[in-house]
Amino acid sequence: MKLEGIREAPVNIAVFYTPSNTSVLGQNSMPETGEYSVACAIQNIWLMARVMNIGVGWVSILNPDTVKSILRSPPEHKLIGYLCVGYVNEFYDRPELETLGWQSRKPLEDMVHYDEFTDGPPSVMTN
Ligand SMILES: Cc1cc2nc3c(=O)[nH]c(=O)nc-3n(C[C@H](O)[C@H](O)[C@H](O)COP(=O)(O)O)c2cc1C
Repeated sequence: MKLEGIREAPVNIAVFYTPSNTSVLGQNSMPETGEYSVACAIQNIWLMARVMNIGVGWVSILNPDTVKSILRSPPEHKLIGYLCVGYVNEFYDRPELETLGWQSRKPLEDMVHYDEFTDGPPSVMTN
């Protein structure tokens, strides 16, 4: 849907994760946290851009190997996100997928569990 952003946006940013050869704090028990950290960095880019009235579109409908080949990235680099960045005509009040009717907001009680996972309504917090 947003593929045209690749051409229309003045700036495209490909964000990679590079595994470390040495031990990294927090990655011993969960090696994938390195990639999570890159996703957090993307979120920070996104939030900062939004504060500056700059739009960001994340395009994942692409072949990572093709992107890597075009950018001649080292093989050990893993593409985490491809961002189209630039000024936009408008910002929507609600998420675009919700506005377009593609997806609706999930009820909070379906997503947040207290103390333990349950199928029913959340139990009352006791502390
Ligand atoms: C991980 C991730 C991948 C995405 N991939 C695409 C994509 O391939 N194509 C697309 O049109 N939107 C994609 N999006 C959504 C757009 O970037 C979307 O415009 C953006 O999340 C802001 O939209 P909203 O706040 O209106 O929902 C993706 C979003 C995320 C978080």
